[in-house]
Amino acid sequence: MKTKHFKIVEKQDLAPQIKLFRIKAPLISSKFQAGQFVVIRINEKGERIPLTVAESNPKEGTITIVVQEVGKTTLKLARMKEGETIEDLLGPLGIPSPIEKIGTVLCVGGGVGVAPLYPEAKRYKEVGNKVISLIGARNRNLFFFTDKMEAVSDEIRYSTDDGSFGHHGFVTDLVKQILESGVGVDEAVVIGPLPMMKRASEITKKYNLKTRVSLNSIMVDATGMCGCCRVTVGDKVKFTCVDGPGFDGHLVDFDELMLRQKRFEKEEKIALKNWESKHC
Ligand code: FAD
Ligand code: FES
Ligand code: MG
Repeated sequence: MKTKHFKIVEKQDLAPQIKLFRIKAPLISSKFQAGQFVVIRINEKGERIPLTVAESNPKEGTITIVVQEVGKTTLKLARMKEGETIEDLLGPLGIPSPIEKIGTVLCVGGGVGVAPLYPEAKRYKEVGNKVISLIGARNRNLFFFTDKMEAVSDEIRYSTDDGSFGHHGFVTDLVKQILESGVGVDEAVVIGPLPMMKRASEITKKYNLKTRVSLNSIMVDATGMCGCCRVTVGDKVKFTCVDGPGFDGHLVDFDELMLRQKRFEKEEKIALKNWESKHC
């Protein structure tokens, strides 16, 4: 009989359709560095999906992931309960983010992107940077990790698309405001939906501000062999799973990536419909 190793020790509802899971995974937690992710397979017949490690506690041997329900597998995961076990957890994968003391760093997060942003902001602060965080969401109910982000930020600003909290508009407006204000910023890290990372990178490029984005390309093997997560960066072909997930935002071909993100849309919709007809 196969043993299932990865026990869910804590589950929290962070926001509508956003769940946090703390999972027992001592080896992964002891090796994790900011920017890395895991590939999760719920059960033997499940698909493999990548999720960023939002927090690691090596003493307790746990890692924390934050999942937004967008399709069949994330919905299945969201239904799992404390005490249940996950069949496979592979990681930590990806190149750790190159975080050094550089001065002032702009940490920009949109939607569920705040989960992968948090370990980056925390690390920037730990090594002695001034951290200015800009966090955006569609509405005020979708914010999470605000206490954690505030604890590692010297300054933090919020935006909502509907104006229910903070600046009324996109988080990229805040990026523009900060840079126009003349506050000296030495580096930016931007994590969120692709259109948001694209827009933020366009703005920072005008200010010649070094900008790292974390890409969420579709992944299958996550070992650099299948080519599924291919992305064009400058004039080079890169694989997000082994060359990333962090890349220079000024060089990423976001338009190509946005097209590639949609290439299994039809199959994903069918899979979700079939699953919902059996489970909802
Ligand atoms: P589906 O209906 O199958 O797909 C919905 C959309 O999700 C697709 O259109 C596609 O854009 C994307 N997607 C589908 N399959 C994959 C796949 N195998 N790999 C990547 N994207 C896929 N999401 C979070 O909620 N939290 C995270 O911390 C997080 N971290 C990520 C880190 C990395 C390095 C990458 C590449 C992605 C990350 N994602 C994260 C996105 C997450 O992997 C997808 O939302 C998930 O795979 C969707 O699966 P699904 O079956 O529920 O949805
Ligand atoms: Fe296969 Fe990256 S997921 S090469
Ligand atoms: Mg899927």
